[in-house]
Amino acid sequence: MTLSVIVVAAGSGERLGSASPKAFVTLAGKTLLENSLQPLLGLDRPLQVVVVAPEGWLTPAHTLADSVLTKGVSAHDMSFTVVAGGATRTESVRRGLAAVDAGNDYVLIHDAARALTPTEVFQRVIDALEAGHQGVIPVLPVVDTIVPVDPDTSVTAPAHPREELGAVQTPQGFHTASLKAAYEQFGGDATDDAAVLRAAGHDVVAVAGHRESVKVTYPEDLRNLERVVGGVRAPGGGVMVGTGVDVHQFDPSKPLVLGGMDFPGVAGLAGHSDGDVIVHAITDALLAASSLGDLGTHFGVNRPEYEGVASTALLTHALGLLRDAGVTPTSVSVQYIANHPKIGPVRKEMCEALSVLVGAPVHVAGTTTDGLGLTGRGEGAAAIATALVVPHELA
Ligand code: CTP
Ligand code: MG
Repeated sequence: MTLSVIVVAAGSGERLGSASPKAFVTLAGKTLLENSLQPLLGLDRPLQVVVVAPEGWLTPAHTLADSVLTKGVSAHDMSFTVVAGGATRTESVRRGLAAVDAGNDYVLIHDAARALTPTEVFQRVIDALEAGHQGVIPVLPVVDTIVPVDPDTSVTAPAHPREELGAVQTPQGFHTASLKAAYEQFGGDATDDAAVLRAAGHDVVAVAGHRESVKVTYPEDLRNLERVVGGVRAPGGGVMVGTGVDVHQFDPSKPLVLGGMDFPGVAGLAGHSDGDVIVHAITDALLAASSLGDLGTHFGVNRPEYEGVASTALLTHALGLLRDAGVTPTSVSVQYIANHPKIGPVRKEMCEALSVLVGAPVHVAGTTTDGLGLTGRGEGAAAIATALVVPHELA
């Protein structure tokens, strides 16, 4: 049988309250959209994927879908299209259905907000379709007691027996022609597609859902899922670490700037900028932790505009790159390695100023190399930094 999968990702995520639409919010370093597309690769069969994205977000959605769906896929034939969604989920599904290949027998409809639905759930839905059912939904047993309430939260009737209730998830699977016909007849707004099929008089069967197939709705949902991903896919729970090292020769003709502080009367450090090895090492560590390259990538010697620039300005620019990448620094430790100046007397002031600049605690230490090497001979100074960053949602 031929199969299309519509991934609806056009919602704004009002309850999540994020700056970008919900599907573009990151979970353990990847957007919900990327996470939700990932299990499709495990199906290992020809697929047409239709991503329904918010108006104005079609290009980023295309880039993300491309990065997931065309990676390492050789065993089967995967095609995808991105279309613009509508004001409601029902309208977004309608637009997705219009882009489904006319000849495909079955269609699955999945919420991008269910970022961690495992492949096995998709497979269960497909198996039920192949067994001849017109409509299939993944359902979880309800664990809470469900009672009808009115808006002021008074309980209005006895609890419904729990064994007779189920929580409905996605992907929901359908015979394409039946669902298209059902949507053509349907005039209202539905929260799921099985309701539309049932309204047209078809039966819908349930298969087992999955506890990790949670719909990201509120900020707490993201935090809880970060823990799931942290245990399963990203040791460290989404925390990323980076290292930065910098070395410069002393140059008595330049003033010394170290950790963003001026040291009047002390020999400075040579370099394209002010030679501040401490700030350079911190910047490199932050860029590395965020997988954003290094100092050379952004401020290399081939960029004359950075000649003589304060290193703290480069750090500020790098912090902007982190912000755009959805990453927040949480901790930085840096060690200065040279015979002079001693860090101890200025440590408190330097740590405080750098912490304010970075927006996270920065600790500065100093050491010498027992008279050995270029730092021991007093030819230059070095610094080594370690930075930890997390996705915005975890900060
Ligand atoms: N969706 C959509 N188009 C809409 C509304 C929702 O494609 N106009 C999608 C969402 O992107 C999501 C799924 O439908 O993947 C389930 O919707 P929901 O979880 O309610 O997401 P939002 O509508 O974005 O969130 P909220 O209701 O908090 O605004
Ligand atoms: Mg909604």
